[in-house]
Amino acid sequence: MAAALDPDRVSRWRGDWETMMHRYQPGRAEQLIAGLAAAEQVHGRTPDRVLDIGGGPGTTAEAILGRWPDAHVTVLDIDPALLALADTAVTQLHTIRADINSPGWISCADGPYDLVLALMTVHYLSQDRVRTWYAEARQLLRPGGVLLVGDVMPDATAPTRPSNGGDAPWTAWWTSLGREPAMASLLSERAVAMSGIACAEFVAPVDWHRATARQAGFGEATVLHRQADQTLMAFRPSPADPVPRQRSGLAPA
Ligand SMILES: C[S@@+](CC[C@H](N)C(=O)[O-])C[C@H]1O[C@@H](n2cnc3c(N)ncnc32)[C@H](O)[C@@H]1O
Repeated sequence: MAAALDPDRVSRWRGDWETMMHRYQPGRAEQLIAGLAAAEQVHGRTPDRVLDIGGGPGTTAEAILGRWPDAHVTVLDIDPALLALADTAVTQLHTIRADINSPGWISCADGPYDLVLALMTVHYLSQDRVRTWYAEARQLLRPGGVLLVGDVMPDATAPTRPSNGGDAPWTAWWTSLGREPAMASLLSERAVAMSGIACAEFVAPVDWHRATARQAGFGEATVLHRQADQTLMAFRPSPADPVPRQRSGLAPA
């Protein structure tokens, strides 16, 4: 059994995570605010059920709970070490360990949701997998639900991103975590979970995401925020093309 984690250290690592992610995601905080404001506007109220796919140590999920304290927020991730940080820091969170590369992941995702988001996560998947993933994410949405996808989406009009230090900030964060004896067993578990899994470094422009999401049954695609090539898009399922119940496996909302 993993040793209990020191909440103060967990708090520091999660703070350092945010600092590190800001290096890769200019406008990260503003992007999230834009996404949550759009979700409120679409629903006309605060969403009840939220799923953060690839939510890592739960820092985004915690910010969501800060804005919507009564929401049921779930973090889904493949990484047991990051999920342990989320669980230790925010007891109100629900966490699910699952691999979005595996075809069965939506059956353990506990849908449906009002809001599904994936921030800096889809670039881990191959292009073909992202195509399928959009259709899967759609099946997790309640009628009227919203999908937010934030990632690098370069195109000719996007200004060049500021230098972000390459892999160095990411590596430094993981090295620091690796020095903590209480993380040893979780990091061993992580090594097993992640063996054979490499980040695909997939990037595609806004138009590709829009067209792919449309093929997956999303009628509306909007760019909510853009800073350098970091983009947040919102997708809403086409009401004229509901997901057949047998295929989605979802109970009526
Ligand atoms: C760059 S981090 C972003 C984390 C978080 N969304 C944030 O913005 O702080 C990418 C996340 O995707 C998760 N991830 C990568 N591949 C995954 C997979 N196949 N299934 C589930 N999660 C995955 C990683 O474990 C990591 O937490």
